[in-house]
Formats: sequence, structure tokens, C-alpha cells
Amino acid sequence: MRIHLPLLCCMLAVSTNLIAQTPRLGVNSIEEVVAAMTLEEKVNMVMGNIREYAVPPTAAPGLPVRETPDVSKLLKDMAERQNQPLQLMTAFSQGRVMGASGDGYAVERLGITPLVYADGPSGVRINPLRPNQPGMEFYCTAFPTSTLSASWDTELVEHMATALGEEVKEYGVDVLLAPAINIIRNPLGGRSFEYFSEDPYLAGRIATAYVNGVQSNGVGVSVKHFAINNQETYRNGINVFVSERAAREIYLKAFEMVVREAQPWTLMSSYNRINGVFASESDWLLNKVLRDDWGFQGIVMTDWWAEEDGARQVSAGNDLLMPGTQHQYDELMSAIRSGRMDERLLDKAVANILRITMMSPTFKGYKYSNKPDLAAHAKVARETAPEGMVLLENNGALPFGKMVKKVALFGVGSYDTNVGGSGSGDVNKKYKVSLDEGLANAGYMLLPELGTYYKDYIAAETEILKQGKDYGWSKPIVQDKALDPSMVAGAAKKADIAVLTIGRMAGEGGDRQLEKGDWYLTDAELNNIKLVCSEFQSRGKKVVVLLNMGNIIDMALWNKLPDAILHTWLPGQEAGNAMADVLSGKVNPSGKLPFTVAAKYEDYPSAANFPYSNGNVAEVCYDEDIFVGYRHFDTFGVEPLYPFGYGLSYTTFDYSDLTVRPSANGFDVTVTVKNSGKVAGKESVQIYVSAPANPHMPKPEKELKAFGKTGLLKPGGSVTLHMHVTREQLASWNTLDGGWIVDSGAYTFMAGASSSNILLKETVQL
Ligand code: BGC
Repeated sequence: MRIHLPLLCCMLAVSTNLIAQTPRLGVNSIEEVVAAMTLEEKVNMVMGNIREYAVPPTAAPGLPVRETPDVSKLLKDMAERQNQPLQLMTAFSQGRVMGASGDGYAVERLGITPLVYADGPSGVRINPLRPNQPGMEFYCTAFPTSTLSASWDTELVEHMATALGEEVKEYGVDVLLAPAINIIRNPLGGRSFEYFSEDPYLAGRIATAYVNGVQSNGVGVSVKHFAINNQETYRNGINVFVSERAAREIYLKAFEMVVREAQPWTLMSSYNRINGVFASESDWLLNKVLRDDWGFQGIVMTDWWAEEDGARQVSAGNDLLMPGTQHQYDELMSAIRSGRMDERLLDKAVANILRITMMSPTFKGYKYSNKPDLAAHAKVARETAPEGMVLLENNGALPFGKMVKKVALFGVGSYDTNVGGSGSGDVNKKYKVSLDEGLANAGYMLLPELGTYYKDYIAAETEILKQGKDYGWSKPIVQDKALDPSMVAGAAKKADIAVLTIGRMAGEGGDRQLEKGDWYLTDAELNNIKLVCSEFQSRGKKVVVLLNMGNIIDMALWNKLPDAILHTWLPGQEAGNAMADVLSGKVNPSGKLPFTVAAKYEDYPSAANFPYSNGNVAEVCYDEDIFVGYRHFDTFGVEPLYPFGYGLSYTTFDYSDLTVRPSANGFDVTVTVKNSGKVAGKESVQIYVSAPANPHMPKPEKELKAFGKTGLLKPGGSVTLHMHVTREQLASWNTLDGGWIVDSGAYTFMAGASSSNILLKETVQL
């Protein structure tokens, strides 16, 4: 063949020129890369990619009923849109990291790599085994979640989240879909185990520590669910009526803190509507509040299958639709082609995605090992869990002491301990340690007859549950049955102490029920507590009840019967060992409640306005406004069973020398804490502030504005904690003027061991 040299040179010159002109992400500016993208590529970029089959949530009454998606059709549509062979789409839908929740879109010619997103708050949720990689395992550590805020320890949380972030990175994931930080408005909220507190300041500080920890690995987070997503009933369309003041002061505050202080890579918009507008379509929420007011620079993605109007979502500042469907694609295309939507809004969303893409391990070509240090992380999980456990009652039963050798262990949860919640907050862990194993590991003898009884019962009941209805994501747990009095009497003769666990399970997709077996004890559970207490206590032996759940149950009927009550939450895969550490006294409990425990459900300010209880499942009015949790109980004099911030220790603490000094931007606060008891322990000190009255704006009696936790103080040891309250923190949202105002007058700073136990006060003028 004869080669025509001049022609070849000419062709080469043209193609080099073309290559030189094609910008690449990381080489050229983001603007240049966006300008080089076709409209189709840009729309695909905001669509995300479909992963595992997932059922969209049930529509709220009045909204169009969503059909279960036909995943093969979705993949076919996507293949057509992206001009890729279907086969490739199907393979891609299983993803590079199998079991991760989603991927981004790649444009190879521009050097754009796809981001990989995986759940969730308690650990990385990916498939533990892969058919195409036999012999390999991808298990992840199940860390505690619901206990994190109860630790009141930001260093501890950051340390744990750093370990969690290492698993994100080493398993090839770019963004962890966590933390979930909505306010715990009502104890029946199904996802409370993932959320942090009824108080925005506590939630915001814990979330900031969490985000800093995860992101210190060079991976991102998605802080969720933005916003005002405080129930699971009809979660994809429920309409929340809330005042701007309550939104700004309570429901958005933790998000604001974390955005300003930790710069999360992404945020996940929530399914619900806010005053009639879907969160993912809310220009006010996403453009005005999040970006203009707080300066957020990252990606906003929808919650999964939040299939609203694609054009409206992207225009409102929701950059990524996870996953986008054909009709959202069509809406975007037609809105832009018809000029209804300015293409620059799409460009902005794409630019946000590209900015985060450039920070990702995938873009940087990070060679992940698939071998995070699971042994070290199990240790972190074990050390974190006890720090949040809350001792609610203790009549000398705990710690066990030297005389306790033989333990009578009752309750299904003692042998099949709940270590995490259900739904996307679940983790595929290699193992879990139940309480019976934890106590045995700690050297205690357990009564074998009780072990046999419970294990047989649990095995038989689990079989029945498996054959029953399809529970989807919710994990049903085996219910306790009434114990045989002679078995309990026999155990009381032999054992030194009784431990009885009460368990509950909740999670994504549904709220808890105001019924026996959920909020209330079942008759069998109440019977068992009474029976075990009478048999053991009549022989001079103590009874300890453990709560093993993400939230709380009705307790007023029975909380004075046992000698001790320890709230152990959902403590992660090392549950049993962590529980045993507190029972034995190896760890002195220092957790304090991140929410108020009411004497009865009706005392919660949201009781009359929670789905179902208000008779209207499609709407909820947040009538209590800013008076959420202790703000209500303290202001209106409603006596709680256990106040916000409450928790006992095996030792006692004295507080002294509260000082409040004006500083450049607010007040420096110090308080000295002394261990006045006989064993080493840690104490969290809470600083509440009561602001001057304003006739136009009711204010809570006091609000949490700072907290600090001591290290391990030896008996007699003391430390001075230094805290800071900024001027901005003292502000209230003035709805009329649409801004924050700080009233002048007297501000009283209070150092307390809980919201009801104020030990020192100091008033300053502003
Ligand atoms: C949940 C999110 C989760 C997402 C991806 C949704 O159903 O609400 O919290 O991150 O699924 O798994």
C-alpha cells in the first residue's frame, strides 16, 4: 500500500489539534470542561446511575401512586440515553463496588470519572460477597450509631468516624451516605437510631465531628436527610407545616453547623414536602438557605427515587437525581430545549458534581486495598459503644462487684442482641457479639438452662418469622414470651444477680407504633420484669434491666421495679463485649440522654401531631414550633421521667467556679469539675443559656449552647473545662424581618449535669 505522506501529516495535525482542544477534568478549568459537554452528557451527569433494585416508598394520600420500577426498563432507557450497549449498563448496574447504593456518570473523553456512593451511618453498606470474586470477603465494621450523641464526646466520635472513613476509602467508595442528623422530634420516629438528638446544638456538634472524621480520609459524606424529615410514615410525600423560625432554630440548625464547620462534600435532600414544596424542589431550602446563606459548595443529591419534576429539582439547586428516571430526563431536556429552564442552571449543577469528582479517590486513581484494618476497627467499635450507654437507675446493683460470679440472663435480646437498626442504616458485618457471649468473655458464669431455653426458643421463632409475611427492609425480632415462674425461681436460687434485656427494632420506611410490643411493653415483658424482680429481690438479690434499642419505650409503669436500668442503645457488632464492660465496671458509664424521656407519651409536645395520632397521615403540623424536647418540658413545667442530658455514673462529681467572660465573639465559659466519688469516671457538663424575654417572640426557658466532657478523672481529681458561646448562638430567628436578632438584656448561663439539674448560674448583660 502506498502511503500519501502529506495527507497523513495533515490528518495527524488535525487529530492532535482536536485532542489538544478537548479539555480534561483536572487539566482544564471546570468551566471549560462543562462547556465541552453536550446537552445530553450534562443531563446524564445529573441523573446518576441505577444500582440495586429498590422499592420506592408508598405515596402519601393525594399524591400519584408510584409503580414499582421495572429495573430492566430503567436500564434499557439509560442505555439508550447514554448510547451504550445494554449489556454494559446491566454490568455497570452491579457496580465496581457491589452493593453500594449508586454511581455517578462517566464521560471518558473529558476525563470525568463516576463517583461511588454507599450507605450509611453505622458503617459501609456493601455486599460482603461477590460472585465474580469468589473467596474474597468485603465485610464492614458495624459501629454504634444511636449511642454517639449520648456520649457527648466529639473527640470519640471523630475517632470512630475516622476508622469508618478508612473503610469507605479502602473499599473503593467515594462518598458515604451519612451522617443522618434530623431532629428526634418524637420517640416513635422510625429512623431515630440513625439520628442524633432532639437538640440541634448537640446534633450539630456530633455531626461535625463525624464528618471531620470520615472526610479526613479524603473521602466525602452525604449529610442527610435535608430537611425537616422527622417521620417515616409516607415519607416520600408527607407534607410538613413548619414556621420559618422553628425551621431555622431547630430543624436546620444542625445542618447549618455542619455545613459551616465541616464542609461536607454532599448533602441529601429529603423525600418530604415542606409547607407544600418537595425538599428536592425547594429553591428556598437549597439555593437560598443552603447555598446563599450558609455558603455550601458541594453536591445536593436527592434521596433514592425521589422522583419529582427533574427540571424543577435541578433549577432549585438539587444537582443530582439518585437515580434519575426517564421522565425526569425528558422533563429536563424539554425544559431546556423549550427555554423554560436556563441551561446555566444545569451547568451549575454539573460544575458542582465535577468539583467534588476532582476531590474523589476514584478521580485520583487511588488503588484501594479492599482490606481495611477490620481488627483495629472492631476495637474502635468496642471502645466507642460503652461511652454512650446511659445509666438511668442504680440502686447499688452496678457495677457487679466481686460477689457477682453467676449471672441469670433473661430476655431474647440477651442472647440475640440488637446491634444496629434496619434499612439503609444496616451493615453487612462479619459477626456480632451478643450479651451472653460478652459476659462469658468477661469471665462470668451464666446459667446454662436459661441459655438452652432461650436459644431453642429463638431458633424456633426465627423459623416462624422467616415463613411469615415479607417484611421488606424492616427486621422483625423475636418477641419474649411469659416466663415459667418455677424456672425463674430456680434461677433466683442459683445466680448472684439477674440481667434482663428488653429489645426493640426500628428503621427506615416506617414509624414505630403506639402499641404493646413497641412503645409499650407487651404483657409478657411486664410480667417477666415483675416476676424476675420479685423472685430475686425477695432473696436479697439485684435485678438489672438493659434497654437494647435505638430510641426509648414507655417506662413509667415499671422503672422503679429493677435495681438498675442501663440504656445500651444499638451498640454495633461488639455489643455484648461493650455491655459487659459497663456491667462489670471496666468502663464507668458516662453517657447522657440526647433526648427527654417523658413520663407518658402524651407529654411529648409532638404527640398530637405525629402521623396517625393526628388522624391525618399526609400532613403534619409542627404546632409545638420551637418548643421541641426539653424546650417544651422546661418552659411549660412538664415533669419528665428522665430529663434531657441525664445519666448516672458509678461515681459523683462536684461542679464549681463557673466563669462567663466576654470575648471577641461572644463569651468564654469555664467550669471546674471534681470527681467526688470513689472510682474513676468522666462527666459531661452542659451549658444552658436563658435569654431575655421578648414580648413578640416567646423563648424557651433555656437552651443548650455549649458542652464539654472531662477525660477520665481519678477519685479526687479535677479539671477545668473551657467552652465558648458565640454571639450568633444567642440569636433568635425573627420571622417578620427574616433575620437573626440578639436581644439585649440579661443572659443567664447555667452549668448543669442535665437540663433539670442546674448546679451553677452566672448572669451577664448584653
Ligand atoms: C434512604 C437513604 C439512603 C438511600 C440509599 C434511601 O432509601 O432514605 O438514607 O442513603 O436509600 O440507600
